[in-house]
Amino acid sequence: MQINYQETTKDLLARIDIHEKYGARNIDQWTTEVLQPKPGMKILDVGCGAGKQCFLYSDYSKHQADITGGDFSNELLDKARAKNAERGDKCKFMFLDFNERFVFEDNTFDLVSSAFAIYYASNLDFTFGEAHRVLKPGGRLFVTGPLPENKKMFYDIIKEATNKPIPPMPGSSRFKGDIYKTIEGKFSKTELLTFENPLTFPEVAPFMDYVRASLSEDRKLWTSMFKDHDEYEALISEIEKVATRWFKRDGKLVMTKVVGGILATK
Ligand SMILES: C[S@@+](CC[C@H](N)C(=O)[O-])C[C@H]1O[C@@H](n2cnc3c(N)ncnc32)[C@H](O)[C@@H]1O
Repeated sequence: MQINYQETTKDLLARIDIHEKYGARNIDQWTTEVLQPKPGMKILDVGCGAGKQCFLYSDYSKHQADITGGDFSNELLDKARAKNAERGDKCKFMFLDFNERFVFEDNTFDLVSSAFAIYYASNLDFTFGEAHRVLKPGGRLFVTGPLPENKKMFYDIIKEATNKPIPPMPGSSRFKGDIYKTIEGKFSKTELLTFENPLTFPEVAPFMDYVRASLSEDRKLWTSMFKDHDEYEALISEIEKVATRWFKRDGKLVMTKVVGGILATK
């Protein structure tokens, strides 16, 4: 399956910022509680974006772990490298396309992780086969992604605004099903953990910032809903009308992120 998906730096960073400002819980804390990355560990983060998880692991391991982040967006890799230099950190960032063979030897890593990324893989069997291959025996894989209940309010508002079905989201539709099954088939032990984070918007504006950072013309997942810039703006304004109605009715807008974490051991 070929998935037409492209993340932009601006949108990704906007969404991360909104999660941090309006979320009741912190996904980073949950991630480190689950993984407890230790000094000396060799870690690969796949689809590392601007390096969020790499820096988290680095801080938690007191900068004593050997951390590599891989992504196929050179723009995001540049951001990650700039932040790495600014922090005086020693994470490594490299080009990695998870639809191609990983450049590492067998049995290299103690931990391979991927946050909101690897589930876009074209061939799950191949990509998770690669993750398995580069892990040491006993090494762990941790993959996070949206569960079907994720952001229900966000999709409900868009449905009400458009009267159209939401385009298929490869993340949430595949995560608990095909992806879990693929991993379970390759690893000796697999479990599904969940993390819920309600985002409470005290005004409509930051919610609309989130909507724009999700539907932006550059994110190809949504393009069945608009053909050009004018249609995009018309769609945004319909969504804003519904969001404003909901806000007046409820006094706030609450969107709950429901995230799954598949933790598997080789
Ligand atoms: C939603 S972002 C998550 C980034 C980061 N893990 C985070 O949580 O901030 C998804 C990432 O997957 C990357 N990505 C998408 N397809 C990829 C591919 N085929 N190979 C490597 N990275 C890919 C994107 O460039 C983007 O950085």
